[in-house]
Amino acid sequence: MEIVILDSAAAVGAHAGSRIAALVERTPDAVLGLATGSSPLGVYADLATRAAAGVDFSRVRGFALDEYVGIPLEHPESYASVIHRDVIEPLGLDPARVRVPDGRAADLRRACDDYEAAIVAAGGVDLQILGIGVNGHIGFNEPTSSLASRTRIKTLAPETREANARFFADPDDVPTHCVTQGLGTIMDAREIVLVAQGAAKAAAIAAIVEGPVSSMWPGSILQHHPRVHVVLDEAAAGDLRLSDYYRYTFDFKPSWQRDPV
Ligand code: GLP
Repeated sequence: MEIVILDSAAAVGAHAGSRIAALVERTPDAVLGLATGSSPLGVYADLATRAAAGVDFSRVRGFALDEYVGIPLEHPESYASVIHRDVIEPLGLDPARVRVPDGRAADLRRACDDYEAAIVAAGGVDLQILGIGVNGHIGFNEPTSSLASRTRIKTLAPETREANARFFADPDDVPTHCVTQGLGTIMDAREIVLVAQGAAKAAAIAAIVEGPVSSMWPGSILQHHPRVHVVLDEAAAGDLRLSDYYRYTFDFKPSWQRDPV
């Protein structure tokens, strides 16, 4: 894992945004894996600035990680609405090229299988954007999720419903179930950029970066991925034991990469 520790949440968004924009400039129809939640909002804001400055996102294809089960599509907190509001519109994506799992299908299991097939048909995800839950979940893969799981129905953990209650008028309105890409699905992405900001994420970050790989901290499976970038502000990096080493590694340029004097 490449661990990048930056001095502000804004810098986290800009760093992740520059990596994503570089991919889109190289590959205009790149497939992006799109995360919801507050963590990636700075990344999308950075990308929106780049879109306004001329980076063309109109051919980018996208697959969202997850969706609540049973929530009306037009509900402002359905992930379909959130992706539309926070990603499709500000970046100028083509809505026809962006898919969100269907949480209202009559046959949810089949809809999950179709979603997996659609990702494969698109050629797989080039770059997956991730946030992380306080319990280490990625997507909605809650603790004890199979490390090999595919897109499926999950029950939300109590701490996740509590964390997401801020988006709903009444805590009881938070859905109890979701459909989410599995950990196996996420691991198939060719590159992964995970962003986290704030002290509330410090324990989860330390567990997934420096702890053992365990389904109790689902994000720890990323230790098995060859191209993961974990981009953190100082507070989210607060519990890392080896933070000085990560800083040194990130700042270090071997002699052959240094600018000539
Ligand atoms: C949400 C999403 C995740 C997200 C996580 C953290 O409920 N399903 O994709 O990474 O929980 O959310 P936030 O970024 O708002 O802290």
